[in-house]
Amino acid sequence: MTTLRILTIWEDDVEILRRPAQRVRTFDNRLHQLLENMVETMRDGKGVGLAAPQVGLDQRIFVIEYPEDPERPEETMQRYEMINPEIVKAKGAEIGQEGCLSLPGLAADVDRATYVLIKAQDRYGKSQRIKAYDWLARIFQHEIDHLAGVLMTDRAEQVYKVVELEDGEVELVPVGEAIQQG
Ligand code: NI
Repeated sequence: MTTLRILTIWEDDVEILRRPAQRVRTFDNRLHQLLENMVETMRDGKGVGLAAPQVGLDQRIFVIEYPEDPERPEETMQRYEMINPEIVKAKGAEIGQEGCLSLPGLAADVDRATYVLIKAQDRYGKSQRIKAYDWLARIFQHEIDHLAGVLMTDRAEQVYKVVELEDGEVELVPVGEAIQQG
């Protein structure tokens, strides 16, 4: 497996992160290899999801790894490989905090549906339907947005700069907050 380079908005030409990705039509070994490499890259970056445009590929593909039971991540880790995904149904709304491997150093509060039904193809082209709730539903929506050229900051209620403190803790500093009059 190969770790791919993740494009970031700070270092790269963001055009590919900003345009709608193309439908996948060929379900061959090259696709399977790409999926393996994307999973490897996501793990390496300590992310929970990765979309193809983030590694410079203009294709409607993303991968997610998320435990069914967050209390027992090792035993219940689930891998999702989604090709040509679409949201079929969405319900509920909740604001939660997100990060993105293509926007390192930032976090964002984003309003997302709390339930989504996703239709997609698997690595063999077979159709699959996945129901996701809460945090997993949020990850699905974040990744599907990547395939439309939409980044979390576009939808954010609030963007934060993630500042690492000397003791290893992190502090979130709101970006674009009105300057306090003193
Ligand atoms: Ni992202």
